[in-house]
Amino acid sequence: MVLLSARLREHTRDDRAAAQRSTFVEGLAHGRLPFAAYAALLAQHWFIYETLELATAAMATDPVARRFVFPELFRIPALEADLRYLYGARWQSRVTALPSTTTYCTRIRYSAFDQATGYVAHHCTRYLGDLSGGQWLGEAIVKAYGLRRQGYRFFVFEGVDPPLFRARYRERLNAVRWSGAEQDAFLAEVSAAYRLNVDVLAELGEHWN
Ligand code: HEM
Repeated sequence: MVLLSARLREHTRDDRAAAQRSTFVEGLAHGRLPFAAYAALLAQHWFIYETLELATAAMATDPVARRFVFPELFRIPALEADLRYLYGARWQSRVTALPSTTTYCTRIRYSAFDQATGYVAHHCTRYLGDLSGGQWLGEAIVKAYGLRRQGYRFFVFEGVDPPLFRARYRERLNAVRWSGAEQDAFLAEVSAAYRLNVDVLAELGEHWN
């Protein structure tokens, strides 16, 4: 039997490659874009994580999804601290969701609030990405924009060892007893989640090119 984590890795090969081609992310990593572009990325993340972490609350008693509830991953407190630093105390009135972000949030609401396959798909795509390429990106941004102590908590997962956490997460995926059809639904939603992320990065790229 093929492990679900192996199916996920294989299934997302092209999705990952497409995501990694983002010129917006590359521009931030090299400090080529204005600092405000970085703030705009975190603002979009706030809308996305607010919806995703509401899904976590909604799914906390689901027998499968509850194994994918990790309070140490919650990003909203970190994002709010960063946005306060980047936009000031009235940050909430200064940030708006881009159309692609709204589409992403709508999709999370539709697929991740009452189906474990959808919830885990959206959960793993964001957080495993944050604990993988996201760690590299955080370091690059801190360096490129000379951030000191503040404005980058989003990338810092207190008490989490990223490689170890990713390995444990994969074990949890492998322990899920999903039928073939459920696994397929999960993988399809992971691809959708990648596309939604790529669309947000593309729209940010149009604003900040
Ligand atoms: C320029 C942008 C990006 C870069 C440079 C980047 C970089 C990387 C790298 C180096 C890895 C580890 C090697 C690999 O599995 O290929 C990785 C894995 C991953 N990335 Fe990205 N990535 C980017 C964008 C994204 C986006 C937009 C998403 C979606 C939210 C994403 C989600 C993931 C996921 C889910 C993994 C797998 C982690 C695991 O299974 O442990 N990445 N990324």
